[in-house]
Amino acid sequence: KTEKLLSLLDGQPVIPVLKIENVEDAVPLARALARGGLKVIEITLRTKTALESIRRAAAEVPEAVVGAGTILDARQFDEAAKAGSRFIVSPGLSRELLSAAAGSEVPLLPGAITPSELMTAREAGLDFLKFFPAEQAGGAAFLKALASPFAGIRFCPTGGVSARNAKDYLDLSNVICVGGSWVAPDDLVKAQDWAGIEALARDAAGLAKH
Ligand code: 3PG
Repeated sequence: KTEKLLSLLDGQPVIPVLKIENVEDAVPLARALARGGLKVIEITLRTKTALESIRRAAAEVPEAVVGAGTILDARQFDEAAKAGSRFIVSPGLSRELLSAAAGSEVPLLPGAITPSELMTAREAGLDFLKFFPAEQAGGAAFLKALASPFAGIRFCPTGGVSARNAKDYLDLSNVICVGGSWVAPDDLVKAQDWAGIEALARDAAGLAKH
């Protein structure tokens, strides 16, 4: 399933982490991000409108690859998958979530931070993980220190990642991409400034991994 996730990402260095309050924003927001070069987006289940936002973006923006984020349990996994999510992101890892993912074609990107959590993920056959909250947990230096003992594991750090520090993470050998909300800030979404968001997306898409 890691391969499936990597092929969806297709080298995109930044996954926009979205919190959509107004369902009418979902389609223009997904379109603006895709125009800027960020086709893969994560709509978090942090609002009442999240599932409907996923449904609309998935159905009406064919150029986007719409995933769901902040998935905490099996029920949310199933609901998000049913809504049309192409991938599922969780801040952590639980037995319940793993078994939901095992029974689904939709790939899961679960979170892990500590060596013990990484070993649990590894035992479940997972080698691509979210690292959240990245900055608060120790940042790029922490992730760098995991590279040697956990040679096969790669990460998508999110949480406190921004245009300012994204490159510090993307330069690491064990980082595939980063996630963050900075490409779709609340004030620009509220103002429906789609051109402004497209410009932020374009800058982020230019942060290619070397
Ligand atoms: C996430 O769920 O990935 C984070 O909440 C994104 O964190 P950020 O808002 O600090 O980018």
